[in-house]
Amino acid sequence: MPRVTPEQTPPGPGDLSAHPDDSVPIRPARKPTAATGATDESRPTSMAPEQLGFIPRRAVPWLSPVLLAGTAVRVVLAELFGAYLDKRELQNALPDKTFDERPDGDDTAEVWFDYVADLGDGFNATYSIAYLLAQQQLTIDGKPLPRGQMLVMGGDQVYPTPSGQQYEDRSKGPYRAALPQPPLDDTHPTIYALPGNHDWYDGLTAFLRLFARGQAKIGGWHTSQSRSYFAIQLPSRWWLLAVDAQFGAYLDDPQLRYFQRVADECLRPGDRVIVCTPSPGWVIATDDPHAFDTTDYFLRTVIAPTGAEVRVMLSGDLHHYSRYTGRDRELITSGGGGAYLYPTHHLPERIDVPPKATLVRNPSPSREYRLAATYPTKSRSRWLSAGVFFRLPWRNPAFVSFLGTVHLLLMLALAGSAQRMSGAEQRLFTIPVVVMAMLVLGGNIVFAMPPATGHRRPRHWVLGTLHGVAHIGLGVLGAWVWLKLPFVDLPWPLPILVAALLYLPVGGLVASQVVSAYLLVASVFRVNINELFAAQGIFDAKGFLRLHLSADGTLTIYPLAVDRVGRKWTPTPTAAADQPWLEPTEPLRVKLAEPPIRCR
Ligand SMILES: [Fe+2]
Repeated sequence: MPRVTPEQTPPGPGDLSAHPDDSVPIRPARKPTAATGATDESRPTSMAPEQLGFIPRRAVPWLSPVLLAGTAVRVVLAELFGAYLDKRELQNALPDKTFDERPDGDDTAEVWFDYVADLGDGFNATYSIAYLLAQQQLTIDGKPLPRGQMLVMGGDQVYPTPSGQQYEDRSKGPYRAALPQPPLDDTHPTIYALPGNHDWYDGLTAFLRLFARGQAKIGGWHTSQSRSYFAIQLPSRWWLLAVDAQFGAYLDDPQLRYFQRVADECLRPGDRVIVCTPSPGWVIATDDPHAFDTTDYFLRTVIAPTGAEVRVMLSGDLHHYSRYTGRDRELITSGGGGAYLYPTHHLPERIDVPPKATLVRNPSPSREYRLAATYPTKSRSRWLSAGVFFRLPWRNPAFVSFLGTVHLLLMLALAGSAQRMSGAEQRLFTIPVVVMAMLVLGGNIVFAMPPATGHRRPRHWVLGTLHGVAHIGLGVLGAWVWLKLPFVDLPWPLPILVAALLYLPVGGLVASQVVSAYLLVASVFRVNINELFAAQGIFDAKGFLRLHLSADGTLTIYPLAVDRVGRKWTPTPTAAADQPWLEPTEPLRVKLAEPPIRCR
């Protein structure tokens, strides 16, 4: 039986950053100017949006109250009506072809390809990764790694919610800037994209317009797919199957028929398969046992009967790199395409896949997988957690203002109650204490709850309640201090004005520290882990996978990592047509997140 073996014994998760010298500064693989000697006069000369044709966006401030409200509405709509608006059913009318990435149809040829996911966030991180993907070649530890002839985008190509303009600014624009024209070496790399949950928040409309129009251009890459899922034939009897499991829903009938046809007509015993899924159900299932159900159904009913063997499963969705290894399969999460860093220190050392707690009858036999590597390391991830105290207020000023407003109202309610205010004007501005206390308590309990798909456990209620009580306690302390100050005795409405000018900003900052402390404590109990890092918006520590299928059918996976993404960019108006529009002012240093992984 073929075996999956690492090329070298990988270091423990804590050892990955022990090789800082492995990183190699990447400068552009400069080619001479275009063969014609001409330069492209349409190249931008500055980073002005009108020059670039898109707006380089800042990273999403995930705790912005307006954004939270807007995203929440989209999420609720998508989850409530997703089943009714599921465009996968409509894709039945679109061509259901499979794709052949064997060079010249040669089954013994070698091929390079890339995998990136979770890319459509802030410009600096997204463009840094796009820039590296576009380079003709990266050299790591003296080994040349050529650009992939195809680029698989594994999900979340845009944040926070999709639209044509958001895709333009956050993914298509940066990728076009990184590879403006098809490479002059006559390679024509293809992009295949799988939607993630953020691509789904408009029912997939904008995603299908961008990625599923058949032959269309995204800079020097071109698209090919017509549906939101695809099957790609690779040399040496390898296949890549990408499954669109909208929010973990059941697979739609047209999609099942598509893959069933691939299974019946193409897959043979001994074929090896890479399966791409929108989220790493194997690890999410440790908190939500249903998370792997759809994937397991696909593996059990479509692939297993053919005798083909799933050697690798790839996913994004969690914005880090992690690899679980088992007797016959590698389970890799690589979500470092641009979105805020997601922690690794909570990842379990061992998982059972499918989870033993699943309600599915007759699931695939459960197997144990152990955590082989993470990027960043668990110790680094733990260290970054503590940065929440200064990154949260720094990245989310609107959230601090929101907290300040809530605490101003809470303090006024408490102070008004303590003073037994009688003036009609003052009562107008004084919300009853009970109402404010219930709003603060209820808001914090809702904040602690997992997404709709997750399980609400007692720890969510307890931590949410304690968080609310902490804020009410802060409000009582604030009111006590306020009543000691001389401003209270000023003539009406000066106390309110002074409170808005002084108490609001100070209260907001102090409350943000209470929220930070809560997030840090709650994450220990596996509550609000996502929010602990979303609030910080760490855009460094990014990465992607470069994969190589050799002529003898060995798949080697190079997990590439960048500790620090670019911050400043220099336009290159006189460079060749296929060279990036923007160069980093400091070279990007790329390293391996762990030694290459070999699968046979
Ligand atoms: Fe994501």
